[in-house]
Amino acid sequence: MKAIFSGIQPSGDLHIGNYIGAIQQWVSLQNQESHRFIFSIVDLHAITVYQDPEILSKRTLEVTAIYLASGIDPKKSIIFVQSDNPDHTYCAWVLNCVTNFGWLTRMTQFKDKSLKQGRANTSAGLFNYPVLMAADILLYDTDLVPVGEDQIQHVELTRDIAKKFNQVYKPIFKVPEALIDKKSARIMSLQNPLSKMSKSEVDPKAKINLTDSDSEIVEKIRKAVTDSGNEIIYDPKAKPAISNLLVIFSKFSGRSISDLQDYYKGKKYSEFKEDLAEVVVENIRPIRERYFELIDNKDYLIDLLKKGAEKAFEISHKKVLEINSAVGLGI
Ligand code: TYM
Repeated sequence: MKAIFSGIQPSGDLHIGNYIGAIQQWVSLQNQESHRFIFSIVDLHAITVYQDPEILSKRTLEVTAIYLASGIDPKKSIIFVQSDNPDHTYCAWVLNCVTNFGWLTRMTQFKDKSLKQGRANTSAGLFNYPVLMAADILLYDTDLVPVGEDQIQHVELTRDIAKKFNQVYKPIFKVPEALIDKKSARIMSLQNPLSKMSKSEVDPKAKINLTDSDSEIVEKIRKAVTDSGNEIIYDPKAKPAISNLLVIFSKFSGRSISDLQDYYKGKKYSEFKEDLAEVVVENIRPIRERYFELIDNKDYLIDLLKKGAEKAFEISHKKVLEINSAVGLGI
């Protein structure tokens, strides 16, 4: 049985980048009956940067509701909160002890974030973040990790950590692979097509949240920046804004990019944007509606997460016992 593991930090409102890059992939994989699916809400990763405690626990439930509203089926997938399973931090510690310091200093996400925040404000947790991510993945004998492009380097590091542990101690870890949909792995900001759409975006027009209303979506697409010229073609170098909109259109409509290019040949940006807005609205609406139903049903969500954590622990703890025996921990 193949295992698929992925997770999202409850560090902000989820947007269409998270959906296209990650959740949409998870949902389409989920029908493979021979696979085991585990999706986590990784709150311990979120606190590597300060989070308001009340907002954090609220967001954890919100992300859970988004998973379900988007089509993650708790009958087919294990859904749990990372901090509900103590094996993750335990395993992360052991893995920290086989992770070379130099590997972590090369992580681009750490370099970017620590540069933005300033070294003095950067936590050691942020530095060790990828090791906790390796623990998340390796504890479940994961084969595939469906993620967006920004996580590839972390999955590569996970592979290095697994290989080193297997070599130094015993070969107990499966070496996982990232699963990426190349074209849609990096959805860009609607206001700056050269930078990634991100949860921490300050300009609300730069991202479309999965809970945005129809009119907010229409407005954001209308105001999305375009490129010079008037052709609607996929060319990320020459036309980064239009290319990004074409990828979003393709992902929400199921139409190929070349089909869209043919269809919009000779048509205006405004017409293209109008149709795009309609497609995004039609796709987000059912997710949003289901989300608002679910978020009102906190007891259901909490119960589901508790059961998910128990199932996750059942699997991960077997691996922890293997780790202990391989390393010689305990008696
Ligand atoms: P996070 O919470 O930043 O993002 C969640 C997922 O969304 C993808 N993503 C995007 N994809 C396309 N375009 C974008 N603009 C975009 N922005 C975000 C991310 O690549 C990710 O797949 N470290 C992870 C969370 C994590 C994890 C794990 C993932 C912790 N442990 C184990 C997989 C396996 C993160 O910060 O994702």
